[in-house]
Amino acid sequence: MYSKIIGAGFYVPDNMVKNEFFESFLDTNDEWISSRTGIKSRFFSKGENTSDLGTKAAEMALDESGLKADELDMIVFATMTPDMYMPSTACIVKKNIGAEKAFAFDIGAACSGFMYALTVASQFIENGSVRNALVIGGEVMSKALDFSDRSTAVLFGDGAGAVVLAASQEPGIIKSYLGAKDDSKLSLVLEALPVENPFVEKAEGSTNKLAMEGREVFKFSTQVVGQAIDEVLKDTGYGYEDVKMIIPHQANYRLIDYAIGKNKNLQDKFYLNVDRYGNTSAGSVAIALSEVRQKGLLKPGDLIILLGFGGGFTWGSLLIKI
Ligand code: COA
Repeated sequence: MYSKIIGAGFYVPDNMVKNEFFESFLDTNDEWISSRTGIKSRFFSKGENTSDLGTKAAEMALDESGLKADELDMIVFATMTPDMYMPSTACIVKKNIGAEKAFAFDIGAACSGFMYALTVASQFIENGSVRNALVIGGEVMSKALDFSDRSTAVLFGDGAGAVVLAASQEPGIIKSYLGAKDDSKLSLVLEALPVENPFVEKAEGSTNKLAMEGREVFKFSTQVVGQAIDEVLKDTGYGYEDVKMIIPHQANYRLIDYAIGKNKNLQDKFYLNVDRYGNTSAGSVAIALSEVRQKGLLKPGDLIILLGFGGGFTWGSLLIKI
């Protein structure tokens, strides 16, 4: 049994923010941001939370799939910016869309989260435990950003994407490959609750805001892009030439361009939309996948690779037949 994508959707808040926005309160400018990252605009929430974005993406994906919400058996939501620790964002979406019988949980693997969530859901389908699954990747990154830090505030955006997976005799997800390694220098961090209780006087240094050592992350990310492509193709009988499109995590243009430079034979296959959305973390690959389907850039039978990398460090890739 295979798991096949039968619908996709995405949603971003109705508030497009151009690079110039940052010029009034940070020592930065459009030229620096565009040339270093390729990002020209992103969307920031005016109050919608992660579950709101995920719900709208899910509704679009369900619409395309032809399934009703009450036919879903499971919901997995990849995010590092949940509405709450409890209930999970997946449980909130379950309620919003009326997925009566679905079990639901969140997955945290930062910008690789959608790859992890798709892999987990597809395993449930492939082993026959469930028939239909909703997989969402989404973030409201703006609530985690330190808007006084020019080295991170300009990079990220808010948004969510979703797919509906269904059991199928036809190949869909052919293979997935996941990786993780110690980020020993803590170069990409978003802290959670500090330990503060009657036995601890005061936790120091906790910010609840994203912090990043850009160069370390650049180094790590550019190393794993090529490896994740090679690993997911290995032993499948497919090669580079068979792949129609690669949808990478939309971290930033320069990083992906550098990584592509090491894999020149794949150059034309990468789909990029980071210029319009910024880095939406777990949302990015899901949004891009839905966008390419909406634009009619893929047809049944096409082979694609989804590819993520980010905090943890984590990374992952999936080889998928559309
Ligand atoms: N505007 C203007 N100057 C900025 C700036 C901004 N928005 N952000 C950083 N700078 C400055 C730095 O303060 C530094 O100034 P200094 O030399 O006076 O100290 C200078 O630019 C160079 O900083 P550096 O961090 O070395 O820049 P860089 O060339 O490495 O580019 C990134 C920074 C963040 C674009 C780059 O490191 C990167 O792409 N990293 C990966 C980030 C990423 O994608 N993370 C998510 C992965 S999931």
